[in-house]
Amino acid sequence: MKKVIIAPSILSADFAALKYDVKMIEEAGVEWVHIDVMDGHFVPNITVGPVVVKSLRKETKLFFDVHLMIANPEKYWREFKEAGADLITFHNEVSAEKNKLVEDIKSSGIKAGISIKPETSVSEIETLLPYLDLVLVMTVEPGFGGQSFMENMIPKIKSLRKIIDENNYDCLIEVDGGIDSRIASICVDAGADALVSGSYIFAAKNPTEAVKSLFV
Ligand code: DX5
Ligand code: ZN
Repeated sequence: MKKVIIAPSILSADFAALKYDVKMIEEAGVEWVHIDVMDGHFVPNITVGPVVVKSLRKETKLFFDVHLMIANPEKYWREFKEAGADLITFHNEVSAEKNKLVEDIKSSGIKAGISIKPETSVSEIETLLPYLDLVLVMTVEPGFGGQSFMENMIPKIKSLRKIIDENNYDCLIEVDGGIDSRIASICVDAGADALVSGSYIFAAKNPTEAVKSLFV
């Protein structure tokens, strides 16, 4: 059976105790950590920049899954790479030259992904799929943790799965927003390879158990 990748989002962690929260998820058995970067332009919220990624890099060997919710990924991605990102995902809805950006990120030696907001359809990224390491399907409006999962995004996950399998593309499907243990199995059944989860883990009474419950 395929093993699902769990990528806890530190957006809901305690920012004054990030290294301890990261240790906790590591001990709970995850291999990835999801880092949400917001600029106050692309989304109405501001989070962390490369300096935080760099500090955290010294504390853990986890795979850094960096989700750029910023208006100018072409201007800033390299700083995140140098800070220790293993995967950089930017949004399809920005005005960057996407083919070139994907190529630049990959030729720097790390992985490249594209994220699609709920209103963006799969057809808008279909021609990029052969070149992508990952597609990040947003199942909430990007910007904030703790929102409800949009069940109507399930057909989008299924159609991506179909296209990727039929063409043998080497591209993971990651799902982000509103994921708890019940939703996790729905997403995996629909074809997800990786699941992001923030508030479900970090607001739980027992965060370690919450992480473990996501391995469906
Ligand atoms: C939302 C972020 C998500 C968020 C998920 O814009 O991209 O990664 O942290 O948090 P939950 O799991 O609380 O929806
Ligand atoms: Zn995210």
